[in-house]
This record gives sequence, C-alpha cells and structure tokens, in this order.
Amino acid sequence: MKITLKIYRYNTEDGKPPHYDTFVVPDAEENDLVLDLLECVRGYQDGTLSFRRSCAHGICGSDAMRINGRNYLACKVLVKDLGTDQITIEPILGLPVLKDLIVDMNPFYEHYRSVLPFFMCPDDPVADGKERIQTPEERERYDDTTKCILCACCTTSCPSFWADGRYVGPAAIVNAHRFIFDNRDCGAEDRLNILNEQMGVWRCRTAFNCTEACPRDINITKAIADVKKAITTGKIE
Ligand code: SF4
Ligand code: F3S
Ligand code: FES
Repeated sequence: MKITLKIYRYNTEDGKPPHYDTFVVPDAEENDLVLDLLECVRGYQDGTLSFRRSCAHGICGSDAMRINGRNYLACKVLVKDLGTDQITIEPILGLPVLKDLIVDMNPFYEHYRSVLPFFMCPDDPVADGKERIQTPEERERYDDTTKCILCACCTTSCPSFWADGRYVGPAAIVNAHRFIFDNRDCGAEDRLNILNEQMGVWRCRTAFNCTEACPRDINITKAIADVKKAITTGKIE
C-alpha cells in the first residue's frame, strides 16, 4: 500500500522557518511500524531527516513523537493502527525542537531529577549489610510506576505542561511515586514537600491525556491522585 507521510522539518542551522515535507512510501505494509516508514524515508529519500530511535521494541523510550496528533512511540504503532494512509508526524510538544523530530530533553530530565528519583535511606538500621525485606503486597503498591521508561509521551501531552513548562509534569510525579510508596525508602517527606510546591502536583488538572499517551499503560492520573492524597492527609497508604 502507498502511505503519504507529512513530516515536520526544522533545522536551526539553515535559517529556514519550520515547515512540513511530504514523502510517499510506495510499498508499505499494514504491519509496518511508523518507525519503519521513517527509516525508509531516511534511508532512501532524505538522509537529512532526523529522529531518535534505538531499541525499536518499546523499551528505550527514545522515539516519542506526535503521530496524527497524538503522542506515541513510533516503534509501537503499526500502520494499520492508524486506519489511514495519510500520516502526519511532528515532534512532541512543549520542549524546544533541536532538529526535525528531535527535541531537547534536558528540561524534562531536570524535572525528573528534581523529585529525587533514587533510593534514600541513609540512617536505616536494617541497611547494615542485610537485605531489606518487603512483602509481595508492599511491592505491589508501587509496581505500576516502576514501568516508566522516561519517554516523555505523558508530560508532553499535558495541557498544564504546555501552558507552563515549569510544571514538574506527570513523568516526574510517576517517578516520585515509585519511591514515595516504596516502604523501604525514607525520602517520602522530602519528595512530597517538593511536589506540594507551586509547580508540583497541584498543576495537574486531571486531564487524563498523560494516562492515554503512556506506552507502558501506567495509570498516571491515579498515581498523581495518590501523591495528592498523601500530601493532604499526611499518610502514605
Ligand atoms: Fe513515558 Fe509512561 Fe513514563 Fe510518562 S509515565 S515517561 S508516558 S513511560
Ligand atoms: Fe496533565 Fe495528566 Fe494531570 S495530562 S493535567 S498530568 S492528569
Ligand atoms: Fe526504543 Fe522506540 S526505539 S522505545
């Protein structure tokens, strides 16, 4: 089948304004990934087309992009999933475009780092060379948020983040949740204080775009609600 791709192009070095280029892939198949089509264009039609990818299996999180107006990983969308032979591909929104479909991820990672996304338990007496015991139920409490691959599909589909890029964003909250609800960790209070600030969880207006965009099917809006509840009740349950 013939697929027409309309792809956002921008090169900070050539002085041209952002624009779209159209490419036709003449022999696509319905089980081709959108990533396959991009590789086809880059390989056979325009070697200057720039996009990130690595694993091609939904694991590395590097190929988030806007496909027909919605955030996806290009390696997780089949042509037949889109139900059309006209595909528009644009960079994810809310982060500066560096070239074509490549955005500057640094603001995203700064938000991620700001919530202390690492294990904190400096004074734990059981850390004295021993294993920290955790029941399956305790592990289950934060299992969903361990699945994040930091692709940014969620944060860059959030209207609150588009309105103000200082909002810490759903991905950072998901990664804070992963540690706040881990009963072996001791940093919950610090993280909750950070997320209770002006650019923290209260910027979330429960739009659900993040949950719909997540390629790992994490229930992000629920995780954000868990964090809001922990802040208001002072209890981590
Ligand atoms: Fe991507 Fe989901 Fe993690 Fe957001 S929560 S960065 S959408 S994997
Ligand atoms: Fe944004 Fe998700 Fe909240 S889209 S407003 S973080 S529910
Ligand atoms: Fe790794 Fe798509 S290329 S997630």
